[in-house]
Amino acid sequence: MKNLVSCSIQAPCKINLHLMVGEKRPDGYHDLQSIFAALDYSDTLTFEIVSCNGSFVQHWEVPFEEDCAIPPGQNLVNKALGLFREKTGFAAHLSIHVVKRIPAGAGLGGGSSDAASTLLALNALSGANLAKAELLEMAASLGSDVPFFLNGGAAWASGRGEHLEPLPCPKDLWVLLAKPPFASPTAEAYGLLDESRETGRLEAGEYPPHKPGRLLSPRDLGDVLAGPPEKWPFYNDFLPILSENREYLRLLEKLAISGSAFSGLSGSGSCCFGIFREKETAQKAQKALLNRKIFTELTFFLAKFAEPVLK
Ligand code: C5P
Repeated sequence: MKNLVSCSIQAPCKINLHLMVGEKRPDGYHDLQSIFAALDYSDTLTFEIVSCNGSFVQHWEVPFEEDCAIPPGQNLVNKALGLFREKTGFAAHLSIHVVKRIPAGAGLGGGSSDAASTLLALNALSGANLAKAELLEMAASLGSDVPFFLNGGAAWASGRGEHLEPLPCPKDLWVLLAKPPFASPTAEAYGLLDESRETGRLEAGEYPPHKPGRLLSPRDLGDVLAGPPEKWPFYNDFLPILSENREYLRLLEKLAISGSAFSGLSGSGSCCFGIFREKETAQKAQKALLNRKIFTELTFFLAKFAEPVLK
């Protein structure tokens, strides 16, 4: 069989349908309980072996200005490549082309997904054929959300996000993503959450009302996800933090009454989403939100839930 010399891979984004954040752990992370769901809106990464002298050239197509600010050392594609080379001794000179569509700092997992796709592509290109357990370990060392993207689909996540149990993908639904014109850096958002808990700052008068202790069991979630989204008992602990910003609050309120069957916040923001049964209703909601002139600029993406990549 001829060896692969190039490989193109779609790196999907995700939303968190549910996100409960526990206390800060001694290692600085937080235990969480979350439902991750991949969408069919993706970055595209292409890797090509151009010779065997152990370096790489990279070309990024980046439509979002804030993405340009990612220093090369923090770029998760480079980190995943470095880690893969270290573990496997894979030394080929590579040309890497990334079409970056998923905005950074949006809670959509773009960087994490790119890292997972890099590991999957390099595993195929190099012929290393690392076992899934090895890829999962490498993924977890790159970031809390990276292991999820090795499989995609929908999953119940616990620990700091690396313990995963597959869930059935919600079917026949449209997801309208609405991204405000700013990023919400993850570490900063967790810091604000800790601070608000320590000071009790958000206990009175917060919107939406907090639903503490809403523990869900992954065993029952298949039925819940297959049921009407209007009845999903999901919540995101970062909602009260971001809704301190009045414009954000307006966006969340408008999304909730836009004809969506369910609406929420992805990860620690900044992207919000609405779930719709009909594409047309989602498109109408997008128009209505634009007419409301919430924020100077809102970016919209319309997507569907994506099935897992690997079985
Ligand atoms: O794992 P990752 O590098 O994506 O995490 C970025 C930051 O988000 C961490 O440094 C930490 O501050 C915060 N985080 C957390 N608990 C998690 C995931 C992330 O506190 N479960």
